[in-house]
Amino acid sequence: MLKQLKGQFKIILLCFLLVNNPILSDGQDLNEVCYEIFGCFKWTRFIFFTPDSPEKIGAIFRVYTAEDPIESRQINYHNSSNYDIFNETTSVVFIIHGWLDNGQESRYTNLFTPLLAKYDVVVSVDWSKAASGLLYPKNVANCQLTGREIGYLLYRLQTERGLDLSRVHLVGFSLGAHIAGLAGRWLKQQYSLTLGRITGLDAAGPFIDGTIIQIKKSDAVYVDGIHTSSGSIASVVLGRLGTKTPFGHKDFYPNGGSDQPFCPFPFLNMTCRHYAAIDFFLSSINQCEYKSTKCESWKQFTSDKCDEPHTIARMGLKSNEDSGEGSFYLSTGKDYPYC
Ligand SMILES: *[C@@H]1O[C@H](CO)[C@@H](O)[C@H](O)[C@H]1NC(C)=O
Ligand SMILES: *[C@@H]1O[C@H](CO)[C@@H](O)[C@H](O)[C@H]1NC(C)=O
Ligand SMILES: *[C@@H]1O[C@H](CO)[C@@H](O)[C@H](O)[C@H]1NC(C)=O
Repeated sequence: MLKQLKGQFKIILLCFLLVNNPILSDGQDLNEVCYEIFGCFKWTRFIFFTPDSPEKIGAIFRVYTAEDPIESRQINYHNSSNYDIFNETTSVVFIIHGWLDNGQESRYTNLFTPLLAKYDVVVSVDWSKAASGLLYPKNVANCQLTGREIGYLLYRLQTERGLDLSRVHLVGFSLGAHIAGLAGRWLKQQYSLTLGRITGLDAAGPFIDGTIIQIKKSDAVYVDGIHTSSGSIASVVLGRLGTKTPFGHKDFYPNGGSDQPFCPFPFLNMTCRHYAAIDFFLSSINQCEYKSTKCESWKQFTSDKCDEPHTIARMGLKSNEDSGEGSFYLSTGKDYPYC
């Protein structure tokens, strides 16, 4: 079985190298590109692409409030129309979707109403133009532009409306988690501003681990992660699309962080484990406590051998209210809302 998987992995890697080969691509990719306010982007380790232009793939920002939870308005970083929604006291949560998705899908929009009971404004970042096309390495490169677009928009809201960035929370799924990290990093690097919080929901692993694209603890005052489909790159074929690497102040590994008890055999559903992170986050808003124990590994957790069994934190929205840093483990139920 293992040999067979390794064989499959080699084929996947070969396809990746062919697809990712700049000589075979459309010839428009130089190893560096610069876009005015967004600065320059270079090829990075594993990713021999630079992002497309903001004109071509620019993100759309839809704004929702408790009074206006469905008919959304838009904001952009070109002009300040609708910026008056924001002021010094506004709390905001941004939702950033994953690869091949768009911001209007129900798995994301389901979060809006419960979040609007906790935050004044929800901003849905639709970067679907940058996330489509099946050329994964290109989409990964595009994440860098989308991250800086969010960073620049926040910079404008801060300078023009006095938006308090400590009240801003970015929630990103899969590649969206890394976009959130890149947004926070751009704010820091370019404008010396620090973002309040980032939550990475099953942050993508393949070809991102160990690169400059990866979300980091230093990208915001508080960074938390929920890992639901983590594994080595060789296990991508088993639906292990998330990173196992801890990246935040708190990293949560429900049910061990690789397999989920409610997901069928991976070949029957490749994405169930990955999307589970969104389900957990949703039910954490007002249904589940998800008390988790600080521990060194799932094995130690399941055999009651954690070094700090009394350090407990809640997974999900409320994790920032609990103290402690490190990796946390918990078991969940098998049926929604899984607690
Ligand atoms: C602001 O920019 C958007 C998008 O570029 C455009 O549709 C809108 O008309 C502009 N509004 C104003 C007042 O310039
Ligand atoms: C600031 O914005 C919040 C919601 O975003 C609103 O509740 C509050 O009334 C606004 N304050 C002022 C002074 O406009
Ligand atoms: C696979 O899992 C996802 C996420 O849980 C779910 O939305 C989808 O309906 C499932 N697909 C099938 C074919 O079961």
